[in-house]
Amino acid sequence: MVVYSAPGKVILFGEHAVVYGKPAIALAVNRRIYCDISEGEDITTVNGREIDKEKQGYLSEVIEQTGVHHPLRINTDSELPSGAGMGSSAALTVSALGCLLNDKGDIEESKIAEEGFKVEYSVQGSASPIDTSTSTHGSAVMLSDRKLKDFLWNIEKGEKSWKVHHRDIPEIKLVIGYTGVHARTGPLVQKVRNFYEKSNFAQDIVDEIGEVVNLGSEALEENDLERVGELMNRNHKLLSILGISHPSLEALCQASRKYSYGAKLTGAGGGGSMIAITDEPSKVAEVIRMRGGTPYMLESTDEGLTQEK
Ligand code: MEV
Repeated sequence: MVVYSAPGKVILFGEHAVVYGKPAIALAVNRRIYCDISEGEDITTVNGREIDKEKQGYLSEVIEQTGVHHPLRINTDSELPSGAGMGSSAALTVSALGCLLNDKGDIEESKIAEEGFKVEYSVQGSASPIDTSTSTHGSAVMLSDRKLKDFLWNIEKGEKSWKVHHRDIPEIKLVIGYTGVHARTGPLVQKVRNFYEKSNFAQDIVDEIGEVVNLGSEALEENDLERVGELMNRNHKLLSILGISHPSLEALCQASRKYSYGAKLTGAGGGGSMIAITDEPSKVAEVIRMRGGTPYMLESTDEGLTQEK
């Protein structure tokens, strides 16, 4: 029996545009998925029931990709709501890969991140490596098309190449607001792709998100939270123009801004969650609750993929 856990994530800047090779910044958060895999008997089970390839696409793809032929007994335990933009699919994928690819406890992060990306790409029909790299590495991660300081690994797909970098965790207080609207990443990524492929305007918006991410990276380095917040608001507006916001996200972002440096949707959008950075987390949590959302006062974590005792 092997048990691995991997953290969820929040994207501070750059979701969707990162699929087209633009930069993005994400933080690993202190809510995790635990995955425990041992040899099964006649059939592969997940939490006691036969695996369902439709419903358990990520786990099925992990098994397919790692080429395991014998039945498995898989048990999962999640501290992350699914479809909430907090990276539950990536954390599940990465922790399951940890169980199946560990070589006597020895894990090569770059290999897990690369395989995790392939799993997400295959299940969603398109993806970037931001979620799986953050869940594997922990801390904060920046993807870019250029090698910057603290380079970790490179992930390629077709003509695209993402350089993954370690970033130290910025000193910010985060509040996540879950709208309660379950949103699947694959169809949202596809929606943006349709727009992007047909319209120069959408391509300009994606380019502009890339510029905002680079400015956001500088502001984080300077610990200039006013500027970080301003850029988050701008990033949110650009994502809304791409068509992936939702009335519930608009309501939570708008209400949170009163007590925040800035707020934006985080992850795929279409519902899911928003994120605010603030000095007054309990006030932000309160307004999120008043607008019908569920606040999570998450903290960032250094701990990426980890073998549990
Ligand atoms: C989802 O957390 C982030 C997206 O950019 C998709 C991806 O990068 O794979 C929307």
